[in-house]
Amino acid sequence: MSNDEVYATGLLNRALDPACQPPEIRDFLQAEIDFLDELIADGMAVLDVGCGTGRHLAILQDRLRLGVGVDYEHTYIVAARRRAGAHLHFVTGDATRLPVRASFDVATCLTNTWGTMSDKRAVLDEMRRLVPKPGTRLLSVFAESSVAARHEWYRRFGHPVVGESAEYLITEGGLRSEHFSEARLRGLVGECAIRPLAGIAYVVTF
Ligand SMILES: C[S@@+](CC[C@H](N)C(=O)[O-])C[C@H]1O[C@@H](n2cnc3c(N)ncnc32)[C@H](O)[C@@H]1O
Repeated sequence: MSNDEVYATGLLNRALDPACQPPEIRDFLQAEIDFLDELIADGMAVLDVGCGTGRHLAILQDRLRLGVGVDYEHTYIVAARRRAGAHLHFVTGDATRLPVRASFDVATCLTNTWGTMSDKRAVLDEMRRLVPKPGTRLLSVFAESSVAARHEWYRRFGHPVVGESAEYLITEGGLRSEHFSEARLRGLVGECAIRPLAGIAYVVTF
């Protein structure tokens, strides 16, 4: 099973249930939100790539001029639209060919979403197309130190890990989720700044 088929089973909803999250994962998810809270100023336009059910844009919506979320799983987009204010827009589409023309102040790809995408460079190129200014495009991805916590998280939401390499975990249900060293990130992203987040992740700005 490929990741798009896995997401179509509704995996994200189980993964975001706090009861399934070990403390390290809960701390990471909160640290992402704290990071966004510092970064996103009043009046900004934000693009969220692989937005899922739109939780990050929903949290930020009161301060945004425009928020656009794109995800290829239509049921997540439908759920995101249910809680969207007038200036949030959620679109079903592929991150390698974003069906969006507006320009944005910031583009995000959060919660290791990029680490589950197969054509990573195409996604970076799309983020660069829509947010031309370097340093305002942001990935949050798992570090190698996340492996133990992710074994437990995935097991709790019904996806025990059945395969592992230096670069990814693969679960019984077919989820393939990568993790990164700083050197690998620099090789894939090119010019970027990398900051540790919550001990198990990195925020990459490029
Ligand atoms: C780890 S989930 C995170 C969702 C959301 N960012 C969050 O933190 O709640 C990854 C999301 O990316 C979406 N996704 C993965 N590959 C994609 C692609 N190529 N194009 C669009 N969406 C994609 C999945 O459907 C899923 O909703």
